[in-house]
Amino acid sequence: MSTVRALSPYVPGKPISELERELGIRGIVKLASNENPFGPSPRVIDAVRAEVAEIGLYPDGSGFELKRALAQHLGVPESRLTLGNGSNELLAFLAECFLGPQYSAIYSQYGFAIYPIVIQATGAEAIVAPAFAPEAVMPLGHDLGAMSAAIRANTRLVFIANPNNPTGTWVEPAKLRAFIAAAPADTLVVLDEAYLEYGRRDACIDAISWVQQFPNLVLLRTFSKAYALAGLRVGYSISHPEIAEVLNRVRPAFNVSSLALTGARIALAEQTYMESCVSDCLSERERLRAALLSMGLKVIPSAGNFLLVHFGARAAQLYEQLLRSGFIVRPVGGYGLGEYLRITVGAAEHQEGLLACLAKCLRSPA
Ligand SMILES: Cc1ncc(COP(=O)(O)O)c(C=O)c1O
Repeated sequence: MSTVRALSPYVPGKPISELERELGIRGIVKLASNENPFGPSPRVIDAVRAEVAEIGLYPDGSGFELKRALAQHLGVPESRLTLGNGSNELLAFLAECFLGPQYSAIYSQYGFAIYPIVIQATGAEAIVAPAFAPEAVMPLGHDLGAMSAAIRANTRLVFIANPNNPTGTWVEPAKLRAFIAAAPADTLVVLDEAYLEYGRRDACIDAISWVQQFPNLVLLRTFSKAYALAGLRVGYSISHPEIAEVLNRVRPAFNVSSLALTGARIALAEQTYMESCVSDCLSERERLRAALLSMGLKVIPSAGNFLLVHFGARAAQLYEQLLRSGFIVRPVGGYGLGEYLRITVGAAEHQEGLLACLAKCLRSPA
């Protein structure tokens, strides 16, 4: 109980409905939660709509059909898969199963905010490995050397987000492989690939081929980002079958809803749609980056569907100014990045609106 009381809760992006209520206006643009602005494929919407007729029944607790589709798609046996209510729930399962007050877990400074929460909720010690400096080649990124040096005899989990949120940074494949190979057998390396689909074209590795080789490697994936199903809540892990078996022991019987199971299964079959969303997002990301750079701003390299931008001492004020103009971006002061804002890549017209508003704010005296 005392460990839970000491937790700082996760602060999500401000919901559109909340800002609408506050400002009394409509047409708010949210670029704050790394959602896919194009939404799911029409086939997914139709399938979920049809499934609504069945919501009087419990879902298939084993997620049989989704797991079968995933196994085929990924080329792994179903015994390696665990389904979660978003990959967030799998992070919590991993901590629940493998941590406790006598253990420690490691994450990188500026690593995804849920890691310290799930670690501390178990009473385990959260060890923060220093990230690369802002001037480094991969500014604010995970320093795998520092993470390796932080491993102790009681370390049971190491969280690596690749690409990482909120920085967008990624790790070099060869260094990542060496890190996993050198990790002690009783330390699980949790590789969070929530943004993998966006990072594939950069140096971001799809680590699935390593799972067989390294029994202590756990991959986390989600349908929330590139597949545009954030509201349905479905993610999965790929691990050694023994780890999947342990995770399934704590998994509530019906943790993934019938709508989510159906939506994810159809979304998986809609690869062309997903890839076109990713492709459009990456073009928009580069346009956004170029525009921000031309304003003289520093932009952290990103392999995700968002950019971390340095605004200096004006960041908090700019966030408020943007809000009042109907644009929700994400403050990241909770990460110790108070001089930055994170901007999710949006549809072209929304980005243009944001850029025009930003330019106006930046011209006005601080
Ligand atoms: C790095 C990272 N991992 C995991 C998640 C959790 O996503 P979800 O629970 O929607 O699958 C997020 C969501 O923002 C994320 O940024």
